[in-house]
Amino acid sequence: MKTLIIYTSIHHKNTEKIAKKMANILEAKLLTPDEADTNTFKEYDLIGFGSGIYHRKFHENLLNFIDGLPVLKNKKAFIFSTSGGLWLPCVNDFNRKIKEKLTEKGFDILGEFSYRGFNTYGPFRYIGGINKGRPYEKDFKKAEKFAKYLKDVVLKK
Ligand SMILES: Cc1cc2nc3c(=O)[nH]c(=O)nc-3n(C[C@H](O)[C@H](O)[C@H](O)COP(=O)(O)O)c2cc1C
Repeated sequence: MKTLIIYTSIHHKNTEKIAKKMANILEAKLLTPDEADTNTFKEYDLIGFGSGIYHRKFHENLLNFIDGLPVLKNKKAFIFSTSGGLWLPCVNDFNRKIKEKLTEKGFDILGEFSYRGFNTYGPFRYIGGINKGRPYEKDFKKAEKFAKYLKDVVLKK
């Protein structure tokens, strides 16, 4: 199974830390949207899309990258993010927009996850930030478990 992870991580590299843990398990190639070449997508069985949450969304460069993709067939994807606030899929679904875009582009989304990340944006900088030290070991373990689940699901299909 060949896996690619495309991610944007601009604030504290929180998402990059999670992406690297997942990449180790999935033996995935890690690229930013600027580095990724859509012509090589056909080589991959599974593509992960990760980002910090900025103003309740994935970073614009990742969303724009997806907008620029052709409609693909039989491509499996997964989504992950890191955020200052809690991800609550029913009320506060940071992943919703990217999920809609990926579905429009023909991706079959196998799973999604969100982790808490150190946040010093805006007023939080005056108190030294929130979620200090996160993502931490427990988050990494969850990310590895999630990656193992993806690996098993994809391998079984
Ligand atoms: C410009 C900006 C906007 C942000 N907006 C949100 C937000 O709307 N909701 C939230 O929960 N966290 C928000 N955050 C916190 C980040 O999502 C969090 O720190 C994340 O882990 C950053 O990931 P990164 O280090 O990979 O960039 C924001 C951070 C920045 C810098």
